[in-house]
Amino acid sequence: MTTLAENWGIHESQFWLRGEFPADPVRFDPETGMWNVYGHAEALKTLSDPKVFSSDTVRLVPPEMAPDKDLFVDGNLLQMDPPDHKKLRTLVSHAFTPKVVADLEPRIAALTNELLDAVDGEESMELVTSLAYPLPVIVIAELLGVPASDRTLFKQWVDTMLNNSQQRSLIKQTEEDKKASDESVEQLKNLVNYLSEHVDDRRRNPREDLLTKLVEAEVDGEKLTQNEVVNFANVLLLAGHITTTMLLGNTMLCLDSHPDEYRRVREDRALLPATIEESLRFLSPFALVARATMTEVELGGQAIPADSMLAIWIAAANRDPRTFEDPGTFDPARTHNPHLAFGRGIHFCIGAPLARLEGKTALGILLDRFPDLRTDPGVPPSFIPSPNMTGVNELRLLLKP
Ligand code: HEM
Repeated sequence: MTTLAENWGIHESQFWLRGEFPADPVRFDPETGMWNVYGHAEALKTLSDPKVFSSDTVRLVPPEMAPDKDLFVDGNLLQMDPPDHKKLRTLVSHAFTPKVVADLEPRIAALTNELLDAVDGEESMELVTSLAYPLPVIVIAELLGVPASDRTLFKQWVDTMLNNSQQRSLIKQTEEDKKASDESVEQLKNLVNYLSEHVDDRRRNPREDLLTKLVEAEVDGEKLTQNEVVNFANVLLLAGHITTTMLLGNTMLCLDSHPDEYRRVREDRALLPATIEESLRFLSPFALVARATMTEVELGGQAIPADSMLAIWIAAANRDPRTFEDPGTFDPARTHNPHLAFGRGIHFCIGAPLARLEGKTALGILLDRFPDLRTDPGVPPSFIPSPNMTGVNELRLLLKP
């Protein structure tokens, strides 16, 4: 029997989406020089112990494979360990308190309606272009204070990065890997230069936005450096949109492929939050997070030396049959769903409440406005061609009966 992942053409390396689960939850890969972690309990252990499993992974990448790394690491929350991580995280967490996020709901609803007005009356729409990409990118651009109208620029840069994102190796770099990596760095530089100009502007002309707050913020009596502000903003801009775009497309696809669940949620919007959580488990947008061991450690029956790189496949952990009953079934009614799609521990996704709110608001309005919404059987969905992500790239939906 073919699985949904095969029908949808999801990247062939994502075996967990094809109903397979490895016998060993932790395995060394001699090709990449990394330890793959697939098990839920093992992934949880790595995410909960930053003293042993550090987020400063760039230090293990050979310098010739990451020539510009110093440019991008300063202020990158995802690469930081305690105590510096906590200081910077506390600073930005003010921008994402439950109240601040809840207050964004009317704006998210208005934007969703505006974007859907543009396709109203059409026979069909492509979900990613019409809603799933623009909505989260406009929301995060408005929070930061960069013009949302520049989103076609970001999309160009970010698409090139996503298309070039492959399973990297610490041991060998082929010509093709090097070319892909150079291209990604070029695009990252475009993004950094773009943000840097806006940061310079906020130093001269402060405004009511997150960039100004970052420029003015002090950690232990010291202002952040230009590089720190820019990289911090860059993580927010990148993390703040690609994944939420995937969440919206993936959830729509999950519903369309499961008619009973689709009917239930159409009849009762209160089921949307649990549906979104199950979509995050079933098709986790961010498949992989990385950690570096600080000491020798035992994990999943393996002795892992100090200074090893771990590829923690949270998307595979979300299909671990030791944790989830019937993991290959999309079941929004499951009572136990401790998925790791937003990570865990000190790096738990700061934008999770915002992503959940965007998902609930946008999908609710979409279902309200188009009661006959379904995929176009003549146009199969396409997925982002990356082993590290699971996300719809194009999804054509029919709007009329
Ligand atoms: C961290 C996933 C939406 C900002 C993370 C991590 C994951 C994740 C797995 C943990 C990384 C690690 O442990 O190394 C997702 C998914 C999203 C989403 C699946 C949507 C469905 C967002 C949004 C924002 C955001 C909307 C910003 C507005 C961040 C930031 C971090 C982070 C800043 C770093 C936190 C830290 O290191 O302390 N996200 N994210 N994310 N996310 Fe998200």
